[in-house]
Amino acid sequence: MKKAILSLIVLVIISLFALVAYHRFPVRTKTAFFSVFPIFTWVSIDQPVLFNHILHTQNLNLNCNFCHRYAGQYRSAGLPNIEICKACHATDAMSKRPEALKVVRYVQKGKEIPWEKMYDLPKFVVFPHSIHVQNNIDCSVCHGLTPKKERPVKMVDRNYMAWCMDCHQKRGASNDCYACHSS
Ligand code: HEC
Ligand code: HEC
Ligand code: HEC
Ligand code: HEC
Ligand code: HEC
Repeated sequence: MKKAILSLIVLVIISLFALVAYHRFPVRTKTAFFSVFPIFTWVSIDQPVLFNHILHTQNLNLNCNFCHRYAGQYRSAGLPNIEICKACHATDAMSKRPEALKVVRYVQKGKEIPWEKMYDLPKFVVFPHSIHVQNNIDCSVCHGLTPKKERPVKMVDRNYMAWCMDCHQKRGASNDCYACHSS
């Protein structure tokens, strides 16, 4: 009985600490939480084709820019579509894996693959990829393990306002409301 009460008190104290920490330092608390329990950030979404990043970036040595070609110059990085896949998947000569054959079918019909976007900010936020890439911020800072796993990983600990502003403050970038909410 005594033991139970004691552990209850300890639990309440820990929760209180967590609550205060979360409200005073939301970014650091979330970062700490997700570094202890990374499994919670590994959310995946269903895609029409199971595209494999490891295969294309590590085995084939393709650069991120080969497929996400606008990341360095424009606001969006861009999801590649059949024009890029066509070079290798116009026939089954390159790969006869079932998922690759799906791509061949899209290419032969001239139909775009309807990818779902996983990283998606609300419409009222401006996020320019080019400025960040030109400032030498690595893709992995914001996209985590995405290209190191077979399936993209949604970093649910990223992409919220406090996280953007935290880095902006450290790096001396603008934290003016209108920098990120211009329209
Ligand atoms: C051969 C082409 C190709 C290469 C090379 C490639 N990707 Fe991708 N990437 C894709 C395709 C296709 C998708 C969409 C399918 C999916 O999400 O599974 C995607 C999805 C993503 C997404 C998720 C986007 C979203 O919002 O859904 C991220 C992030 C990403 N890639 C980052 C990278 C990074 C970083 C690299 C380099 C290390 C890279 N990719 C290299 C083709 C490629
Ligand atoms: C430079 C050539 C090249 C390009 C460009 C390319 N691929 Fe591939 N892809 C390959 C090779 C090589 C394999 C693996 C061959 C094997 O082992 O069967 C492969 C395999 C695949 C697979 C099967 C993966 C698996 O694990 O089952 C899918 C799906 C795929 N590619 C989708 C795409 C899509 C979508 C695009 C366009 C965004 C694309 N590829 C662009 C060369 C390419
Ligand atoms: C500072 C953080 C950050 C960096 C660095 C970054 N991204 Fe992104 N990325 C995002 C955010 C935020 C989104 C969602 C944007 C939106 O919805 O407007 C996104 C979206 C994407 C998408 C989905 C398609 C699109 O264009 O919206 C792809 C693909 C992608 N990023 C690839 C990359 C690649 C490849 C790199 C490295 C060359 C990179 N990103 C670097 C934060 C980043
Ligand atoms: C890892 C650090 C980092 C993160 C995370 C980050 N940024 Fe940035 N951001 C920068 C840097 C560095 C600059 C460039 C500052 C400069 O050149 O003056 C910048 C510039 C910008 C600009 C242009 C500001 C201007 O002066 O016009 C916008 C808009 C922006 N970021 C939006 C975002 C949004 C939205 C997010 C979150 C989804 C985000 N950023 C996350 C580092 C970051
Ligand atoms: C560095 C970029 C950045 C700056 C600076 C910024 N915001 Fe945001 N803001 C965001 C992002 C990203 C979201 C979307 C968060 C999400 O939905 O995950 C957001 C969301 C919001 C929302 C919607 C409610 C919410 O919290 O999701 C409001 C309201 C808002 N911002 C107001 C402001 C005000 C007021 C300022 C100036 C003090 C400001 N923002 C400065 C990036 C920024």
